[in-house]
Amino acid sequence: MERKLMQGMASGNHTAVTQFFFVALSNILGLRVSLFFLVLVFYLITLVSNIIIITITVVDPALRSPMYFFLRNLSSLEIGYTSSTIPKMLVNFLSEDTSISFLGCATQMYFFSFLGITECCLLAAMAYDRYVAICYPLRYTAMMSRGVCFQLSAVCWLIGVLVGVGQTTFIFTLPYCGPNRINHFFCDLPPLLKLACADTYRNEVAVYTITVTFIVVPFLLILVSYIHILHAILSIPSAAGRSKAFSTCSSHLIVVTLFFGSGIVTYLRPKSSYSLNTDKLLSLFYSVVSPMLNPLIYSLRNKEVKEALRRVMARKIFI
Ligand SMILES: *[C@@H]1O[C@H](CO)[C@@H](O)[C@H](O)[C@H]1NC(C)=O
Repeated sequence: MERKLMQGMASGNHTAVTQFFFVALSNILGLRVSLFFLVLVFYLITLVSNIIIITITVVDPALRSPMYFFLRNLSSLEIGYTSSTIPKMLVNFLSEDTSISFLGCATQMYFFSFLGITECCLLAAMAYDRYVAICYPLRYTAMMSRGVCFQLSAVCWLIGVLVGVGQTTFIFTLPYCGPNRINHFFCDLPPLLKLACADTYRNEVAVYTITVTFIVVPFLLILVSYIHILHAILSIPSAAGRSKAFSTCSSHLIVVTLFFGSGIVTYLRPKSSYSLNTDKLLSLFYSVVSPMLNPLIYSLRNKEVKEALRRVMARKIFI
């Protein structure tokens, strides 16, 4: 694939770019080392907490409800999502050689956008699951049967694959002839569009429209679900019940807003008003911080999960 892409580009009157370089974050070694350890710790927390969630939702029979099916699915996805960018980012913080091959960059963008779009969609499916559970408790088991859950998540993965393939193919068939320095932590859409040497205005609009659709629509669905949920919560008679339900909702809303907010601000702005350093900082929220907060807020704060964790650990100790 790489050969074909490069031949395609070399046939123009420009010399084709065969690899990219990430611009070093700073010349100050101390700053790079600090950021390295910070991101490393975030990454390890993400990996460990997601592995814990996958393990207990598989092992513990009490965690069989649709919510935990979605959580397990989200956890497996997040391991891939963070692993598509963070390891290379960590290497770049410390190494002098910050190059990435053309194919490597395309592969990174494919997995990052495929898993990112799937994540947006799964978060929407999870909000819908909570909406049904809270607003239609009596019909919940019928409405969220195993088959429905499986289909909902399968549709999310399918949308992710399609958007990922489409976007990556589009970006990497553009001509790259000139500067090959990426001022970013990984091969993300905006910095690469900026490097393409064709006048791509119309195509750019198309790509942005598609990406934004698959980020903004799930976000709106989540907001609508939570508005209904809040409405239902406010009619709970006991104040204690109200505040408990409210605290779960508000923490979900905070992580969702952080993830979608940083993504929307980054992808929605046109190339011309694109400020590299703001986007670099924002990208850390949707690539590093939010994936770490998700498992903590969605499940480890949850009483059922904590109890299951205790049971699993007690069993391990007895064995
Ligand atoms: C996530 O969902 C997909 C599609 O429904 C399924 O094929 C996959 O096995 C699920 N993954 C986990 C870890 O449950």
